Amino acid sequence: MKDNTSSYNSSVYDAKISNVLPYYAEFHSQVIDVAKMVFNEKEGSFKWLDTGCGTGTLALRALGELPNTEFTLCDPSEGMLEIAKEKLRGRDICFNIVPSHELPYENEFDIVTAILSHHYYDLETREIAVKKCYRALKEDGIFITFENISMSTKESEAMALNRWGQYLLDHGWTPEEVKAHQARRGVEMFPITIEQHLEMIKNTGFKSVNILWTSYMQAGFWAIK
Ligand SMILES: C[S@@+](CC[C@H](N)C(=O)[O-])C[C@H]1O[C@@H](n2cnc3c(N)ncnc32)[C@H](O)[C@@H]1O
Repeated sequence: MKDNTSSYNSSVYDAKISNVLPYYAEFHSQVIDVAKMVFNEKEGSFKWLDTGCGTGTLALRALGELPNTEFTLCDPSEGMLEIAKEKLRGRDICFNIVPSHELPYENEFDIVTAILSHHYYDLETREIAVKKCYRALKEDGIFITFENISMSTKESEAMALNRWGQYLLDHGWTPEEVKAHQARRGVEMFPITIEQHLEMIKNTGFKSVNILWTSYMQAGFWAIK
């Protein structure tokens, strides 16, 4: 029985996540690059909420480059948060066991990030979760999210899945495991297209919504409150 909704139990997540997510480290590089830009424009304290923080890898990397950041890390999985706490031991960080659609914050943060943590939602609840991220931001604050995406047609979806399947095989998965894993789409996780992401994020009230980065299976977006 897994202790969180991702592909791996929290205890092996860090060691294995790059076996399922092509470009995983690049997602965090892109986020930190945008955060640095926001940080440079700011005076005083810099507050960052990472929702669905998992094992805290993004926060640890970001603190290496932006040491004065005040982090709040949220995740509904106790197992994930325990690893994050251990990894970030000795740092002054707020932790909160809470899913994104129940975030309690209002007008507090300069940046809110949600990295591969909202694809477990149906479209309606996903929008509620993003609204909570919007609410947590200060005026002009930046929201950054990376998510699994689906392609625009069945044909291109099949081709992208095929390509990703080859990546999984190259990273130690058996053909049966690949099949079972890809069968989670539309059952345990609900990827949407880039266009649906842009529209959904816009619906929550952001004044500017943009694509940050994309591959054939994941995309990043950034938006200004
Ligand atoms: C694939 S991991 C990503 C973790 C981390 N953001 C990273 O970059 O490594 C997905 C994370 O989303 C969390 N999660 C699942 N449902 C969530 C929800 N409703 N709200 C926020 N996070 C959620 C899981 O517990 C897990 O830690």
